[in-house]
Amino acid sequence: SWLAIALLSAVAACAVVLVTLHLRYPELRWDWSSIDTDDVDFPASFVWGTATAAHQVEGGMPANNWTWWEEQTDKRGRPRIHGGARSGAAVEHFSRYGDDIRRMRDELGVESYRFSVAWSRIEPEEGRFDRAALDHYSRVIDTLLEAGITPMVTLHHFTHPLWFEQKGSFEYKQNLDHFVRFSREVFSQYADRVPRWCTHNEPGPFAVMGWGLGAFPPGVRSPSRFVRVLANLMHSHDRVTRSLKAMPHGDSVEIGLVKNIFQFEPWRRWNPLHWGLARVLEDVYNDSILGYLRTGTFRVRVPGVRYSEKISDGPAPGDFVGLNYYSHLLVTPFTSTEPPFETFARPGDIKVDMPYCIYPEGFYRALKQIAQVGKPIYITENGLPDDRDDRRAHWIKTYTYAMSRAMAEGVDVRGYHYWSLLDNFEWAEGWDPRFGLFGVDYDTQERTLRQGAQPFVELVRKTRAKRDGTQETSA
Ligand code: FCB
Repeated sequence: SWLAIALLSAVAACAVVLVTLHLRYPELRWDWSSIDTDDVDFPASFVWGTATAAHQVEGGMPANNWTWWEEQTDKRGRPRIHGGARSGAAVEHFSRYGDDIRRMRDELGVESYRFSVAWSRIEPEEGRFDRAALDHYSRVIDTLLEAGITPMVTLHHFTHPLWFEQKGSFEYKQNLDHFVRFSREVFSQYADRVPRWCTHNEPGPFAVMGWGLGAFPPGVRSPSRFVRVLANLMHSHDRVTRSLKAMPHGDSVEIGLVKNIFQFEPWRRWNPLHWGLARVLEDVYNDSILGYLRTGTFRVRVPGVRYSEKISDGPAPGDFVGLNYYSHLLVTPFTSTEPPFETFARPGDIKVDMPYCIYPEGFYRALKQIAQVGKPIYITENGLPDDRDDRRAHWIKTYTYAMSRAMAEGVDVRGYHYWSLLDNFEWAEGWDPRFGLFGVDYDTQERTLRQGAQPFVELVRKTRAKRDGTQETSA
C-alpha cells in the first residue's frame, strides 16, 4: 500500500542520513597495541610548560564572581560547589609562588608558565588600580624570568571583580569597556617582559556553564542569553587584541584566544536523536567559535537559537590560538542536564576522576580542526584528574604521542602546558579532582612531585638536551 511505501521511504531516507553522518564524522580509534608512544620527536624549539589560574591556586581572593558563588545555594538549598567547598586559602600560591617557581625549574625543567592575573585584586573597585597587586604580579614575572621560565599571562580566566559581575559582566556589550581598560592597564605594566598573552580562557565553558547550564555564576539557564554572552566574548577578544596590539610592545608580543574543544558525539551511533543533539552541541560549542576565528563572523544555527554577527572584517585578530583539550563527550538527549553529569564510555575506555574518559585520538582530531584557523597553536591546557595517580603517566604518553602525530602531519604546535602545576580548586567540583603534577597536602600545603609526572619530566628533559646539543654543534 501507499502507507507502506511512504514508511519504507522514510526509513530509507533516515538510513541514508545516518550513514552519511557516520562517514562524515567518524569517531577515530587507533590500535594502540601497534603504537610505540616513546616514538615521538619534538623540535628543539618546542616549549614545555605548566598552567594554573589565579582563583584556583592563589588563595585569599578579594570579592569576585566566584567568592560570591561559593556562598550560594541552589533552589533546593544545596551548596553550589560540591561538598560546600570554598576556594579559601587555596594552595597559597600567592605567597608560595617563589617556591613553586623553583620547583618548576628544578623538578620539572619547564620553560613556560601560563597563569592568570586576578582582576579583582588589580581593580578591586571600579576605576581604582591597586599598586600592591600590580607589584605582586610584577615580582612573579621577574621571578619566572630569573628562573629561565617564560611567563604567559591570561587576562580573563573565569573570574572578575564582584562589581563587574553586578553590572551583568559579559552579558552586556557596554561592559566590555571595563575589561578593555583593565587589560590595557595590565599590558602597560608587563608587556616589556611578557611575550605571550591570552585574552579569554575558554569562552565556551565559561558561557555555557554560567548562562546555559547554570552550574557556574551567575547561574542562569537560558539558551539565548548564553549565546549573547558567547558573542560578546568574541567582541571582547577582538577589542582587547586590537587595543593591546596598538600599545607599546604590542607588535612584538603574541596574543591569542584560548579555545576549549570537547567533541560531542552520539552515544548510540545508529540513533538519529543522539546525532541530532551531538550536531547541535558541536555547532554552538565548537563551530561557532572556530568559525569566528576563521572568518570574523560568529554564527549559531540551531533550532530555537539563530544568531549571526560579523565581528571583524576577515579572520579574528591574534597571533596564535590556544587549545585546551581534555576529551570528547558521548551524548544522548535522555540524560539530566543537572550535575552530577553521567559518564558514557565505550568498552575498554579508561575513565578519569571527572565525567570523561581518556581519548588521545580526540586531541589529534582537535589539533587538525583548530589548525584550520590558520594560526600557530599553543596547547594552553591538557591534563587529568587522577587521585590514585595510576592513569597520569598513560595520559601524558598517549596525548603527547597524539600531538606529535598531528605535528608530523604538518600541524604547527609551538608549545604544550600541562594542566596543572599543582592540585587546585576545581570550580564547581571543589577540591576532589587532583590535576597536579605536584600533589598538594591541603592541611600542610606540602607539595610532592607525583610519580605519574615522570613521562612529562622526561619529555622536557629530552627537548632541552636536543637544544643544548644543537647549540653545541652550531657553536
Ligand atoms: C578547564 C579550565 C581550567 C581547569 C580545567 C580542568 O576548563 O580552564 O581552569 O578547571 O578545565
